[in-house]
Amino acid sequence: MPSILVLNGPNLNMLGIREPGIYGSMTLQDIENRLREHGDRLGAELQFFQSNHEGALLDAIHAAYGRHDGILINPGALTHTSYALRDGLAAVGLPVVEVHLSNIHKREAFRHVSVTAPVAVGQISGFGSLGYELGLTALLHHIRN
Ligand code: DQA
Repeated sequence: MPSILVLNGPNLNMLGIREPGIYGSMTLQDIENRLREHGDRLGAELQFFQSNHEGALLDAIHAAYGRHDGILINPGALTHTSYALRDGLAAVGLPVVEVHLSNIHKREAFRHVSVTAPVAVGQISGFGSLGYELGLTALLHHIRN
């Protein structure tokens, strides 16, 4: 059974409270519960980790090497800035799918660039919490095909 690390970056622990008009009303716990059910249906084992700290996310990415088969990540604002996360994802060489709740391409200009997307298989952006399920489906499809 494939094992997937699900990573969420800065401020995503505030989902449900944080700008609900943009990010919806579900909490991260709600999203993870739904995603776990989706993982069960698709025959995947999921491990979840959220941090507001770039280094902690990087440590989790490194620890995924040899332990997980893929990474589903919403790097939050680190998407737009973190060469370290990008290099860490490239270093472990695992398939990555990047998820954003909002459509980053129709928001402020600074959100239009993702420095992590070039090391991902693909990016899903703008479908709210459904994006995590779409992303997991796509990642597992990539791993199995
Ligand atoms: C986000 C988009 C980012 O620009 C923002 O900084 C976030 C959330 C999203 O899921 O839409 O924290 O990654």
